[in-house]
Amino acid sequence: MDETLFSIIASLEDGRRLGTDEFEYLVSHRTHEGATQLARTAADIRNEIYGHDIFVRGLIEVSNYCKNDCYYCGIRKSHSHCDRYRLDDDQILTCCREGYSLGFRTFVLQGGEDPAFTDDRLCKLIDQIKTEYPDTAITLSLGERSRESYTRLKKAGADRYLLRHETADREHYAQLHPPAMSYDNRMRCLQDLRDLGFAVGAGMMVGAPFQTPRHLAEDLAFLQDFQPDMCGIGPFIPAAGTPFEHEPAGSVEETLYLLSILRILMPHVLLPATTALGTMDPQGREKGILCGANVIMPNLSPVGVRKKYALYDNKICTGEESAQCRVCLDIKMDHIGYQIVCDRGDVRRKPICPEQP
Ligand code: SAM
Ligand code: FES
Repeated sequence: MDETLFSIIASLEDGRRLGTDEFEYLVSHRTHEGATQLARTAADIRNEIYGHDIFVRGLIEVSNYCKNDCYYCGIRKSHSHCDRYRLDDDQILTCCREGYSLGFRTFVLQGGEDPAFTDDRLCKLIDQIKTEYPDTAITLSLGERSRESYTRLKKAGADRYLLRHETADREHYAQLHPPAMSYDNRMRCLQDLRDLGFAVGAGMMVGAPFQTPRHLAEDLAFLQDFQPDMCGIGPFIPAAGTPFEHEPAGSVEETLYLLSILRILMPHVLLPATTALGTMDPQGREKGILCGANVIMPNLSPVGVRKKYALYDNKICTGEESAQCRVCLDIKMDHIGYQIVCDRGDVRRKPICPEQP
């Protein structure tokens, strides 16, 4: 029994702030016993706030054109074998129509940084979706843009924005990205999004090349301070044709461990069990829920383009129709005693069950 580990776990469970050194110890001294305790606490906290409700987000992958060149990403601009596509507005609206009929009340428009998605075009699209489906939330995940652009998108009706910080360590950021991209701009974007009133999602890959326990500790310290509304983490998975194609993938166990820590650190956070986790382990998403996650993001993109949005190799759910995915996830969640709910799935600030007198 590692007493230092359990005293750090006790501090975390008591809601005390941890320092980067403590986070580093937590990450680098993971034991089965510690992970089991953290998972139990994380599930209890999640159950108190969200019960056994799992929120779904319909992911629409609008384009795999990207002007960026992140070394890890399968749709980076230098990947010459990437078969590029871009959905038109009608195709996106058709995905929303189908998603709405399947019970989705959040649509996530995600894509590479594609200059064809101008502010004018996006604002019109957001307005159309909101007019047709006023009881839905719109999440954007379209990368780094100017403050002016974010301002317009918010005014047009977008509710949330996912932009993983990727790593909270400046040097590590430079090892994962080309010189044209900067840590400072990433952080500027996250702060702008927060200032403008978006519900903001940050996050990182687990087991990214060059990542050390210290880097993950810095990520946790950053998230503790920033307190995002959503936090997306998943294992790094190598993508053929990228500079990191021969790097090892991140670990499922470490991702699950971090999910539990994140739930305890940010009790109300919306925490997805990601597709990358499901790709590394057929039961990865269920395990993620059992370790404290409460969101699943099935794919609503047209089946014809799904394989082309290949951020990494062997991605799951690229052959299924959206309706099949929805049924499949209902069964998976039911199997572990959870249910998918059809509402916007906003952050809940209060426990669902008032304390008994
Ligand atoms: N362009 C937008 C952005 O930069 O936020 C959204 C799309 S981007 C591809 C979505 C996320 O996929 C990234 O933030 C990154 O963390 C993740 N990702 C990219 N390549 C990956 C890989 N090889 N393995 C696991 N996750 C990856
Ligand atoms: Fe897509 Fe199971 S969630 S097929």
